[in-house]
Amino acid sequence: MTGTRTPRHPARTTPDGVASPPRAAAPAVVLLEDVHRRYSNGRVSVQALEGVSLTVRAGEFVALVGPSGCGKSTLLNLISAVDRPDAGRVVVCGTDLAAAREADLTRLRRRSIGVVFQAFHLMPNLTASENVALPLALDGRRDDARVARLLDRVGLGARGDHYPSELSGGEQQRVAIARALANGPHLVVADEPTGNLDSHTGVEILDLLGELHRAEGTALVVATHDDRVAARADTVCALRDGRLAGTPAG
Ligand SMILES: Nc1ncnc2c1ncn2[C@@H]1O[C@H](COP(=O)(O)OP(=O)(O)OP(=O)(O)O)[C@@H](O)[C@H]1O
Ligand SMILES: [Mg+2]
Repeated sequence: MTGTRTPRHPARTTPDGVASPPRAAAPAVVLLEDVHRRYSNGRVSVQALEGVSLTVRAGEFVALVGPSGCGKSTLLNLISAVDRPDAGRVVVCGTDLAAAREADLTRLRRRSIGVVFQAFHLMPNLTASENVALPLALDGRRDDARVARLLDRVGLGARGDHYPSELSGGEQQRVAIARALANGPHLVVADEPTGNLDSHTGVEILDLLGELHRAEGTALVVATHDDRVAARADTVCALRDGRLAGTPAG
């Protein structure tokens, strides 16, 4: 995405009008075409996404913003391949979610996508090192040197033997970021990664995410209410009522 306004993605702008590096030639890591997602369980029915089209290119940092309930987490669940659309096309790292078998989706999630949550979601009975090693272990692999290197990269080289309850919130989120990078993913998805952190720690976590995404060359999609995320992103996508802002209501 070049960061200029285009008719296809009218909601995408660069922060402060600054042109982002041209990425038009980079391959698409995420492709959404006219995606719809409705939650219905007999009792409630909510159109959470309605005609969303979006491309995230290799190495791009996209901030997904919008008011509570606009569909950010719903969109991230599709991008992370934990959910499928009712209509429209979602292709993640070359896998079309509609056509993929469950085993393909599991492999995609384990090898190509790293996820960071607001509430960290570390395994409480595993140490920091074991948490970072978990995605490798689930894929039948073990690489102690990589785990140690990743913990070093997030500033926790000396905390590998600590359990999550023995770490601060910011430190737990650092472990979660290291875990998200364990398998060398093409894509990192973060849902409100600073939501449970104080302001200062939130800035540190954002800087770390930005730095690692640049160093590792991963695409990064962050859903947030935090203006500081948008200021760091290449591209800002604004959702409202399940639509990318600027998309005409159908
Ligand atoms: N499992 C579900 N069943 C029914 N409705 C749901 C479900 N999950 C989400 N919704 C509804 O879908 C809409 C979008 O929810 P979503 O969680 O994607 O919003 P969000 O933008 O992430 O909000 P927030 O900023 O508060 O996290 C909301 O109206 C929500 O009430
Ligand atoms: Mg949400």
